Amino acid sequence: MNARLRAAVGTEAGRAPASVKVWDPLVRLLHWSLAACIFGAYLVEDGDTAHRVLGYLALGLVATRVAWGFVGSPHARFRDWVRGPRAVRAYLRERLAGTSRRRLGHNPAAGIMMLGLLATVVLVGVTGWMQTLDAFWGVEWVEDLHAVLAWSLLGLIGLHVAAAVVESLHYRENLIAAMVHGRKRAVEAADGASGRPPHVGRAPVVADQDAATNRHEP
Ligand code: HEM
Ligand code: HEM
Repeated sequence: MNARLRAAVGTEAGRAPASVKVWDPLVRLLHWSLAACIFGAYLVEDGDTAHRVLGYLALGLVATRVAWGFVGSPHARFRDWVRGPRAVRAYLRERLAGTSRRRLGHNPAAGIMMLGLLATVVLVGVTGWMQTLDAFWGVEWVEDLHAVLAWSLLGLIGLHVAAAVVESLHYRENLIAAMVHGRKRAVEAADGASGRPPHVGRAPVVADQDAATNRHEP
């Protein structure tokens, strides 16, 4: 039975679908293209044409992602996952206590990391571009700033990937694969406060199909 049919049968029987579509194709395409451009920019010769092209492409991808954050699918939108400091602190407290709820979109702490990554890519790209302007050509502080930002970005990426692995283990859901195929396990009551999956064999119960939790693309 294919996933769509399985989901339909589950829904008709009053059960939640096994998985729901969370990341739309554009979010996934932008994510992996951005990762490829950034890694490419580190690998090619500093400042040469390929480096500049990859840097500008990265800026274009971030600009597209920002626009998509206002008009895209439900979980792509900033309003789905950008939260204030209070919500982030509350999430981190619950996460450390082991009582955090699994989210379909980015959790509040991940949201901060996503904004940090996007903003740092912009700063790296802009300081790279500044080096091509007459006004800043050969100016040492601009070169230094570009280097510091670029290596800080690499540190953030390391943290980002480590967090994706740790959170995948914690919630027993492969978040990296979800960024590839776009689907996540549907939210179930048995996810409980810890956000972990129910025991194998236990019937899934719909906890919440509303906008805040199981909202998914049609
Ligand atoms: C240059 C490297 C990277 C950058 C700049 C980057 C940036 C981002 C951004 C901005 C998002 C938010 C996605 C969105 O809402 O559009 C994201 C999500 C994500 N990224 Fe990356 N990423 C990078 C590399 C990677 C790598 C190498 C992996 C894994 C091997 C990875 C795994 C993920 C996962 C799993 C998510 C979703 C997290 C969640 O479920 O909340 N990323 N990344
Ligand atoms: C957004 C992605 C980018 C990344 C990840 C990146 C990364 C880097 C890194 C790691 C270096 C070497 C820094 C060091 O000396 O240790 C570098 C140098 C350089 N980058 Fe970028 N860069 C990006 C975008 C750009 C853009 C858009 C331009 C110009 C259009 C640019 C122009 C340069 C130049 C001219 C250098 C050599 C600076 C020097 O002489 O010290 N970069 N970049």
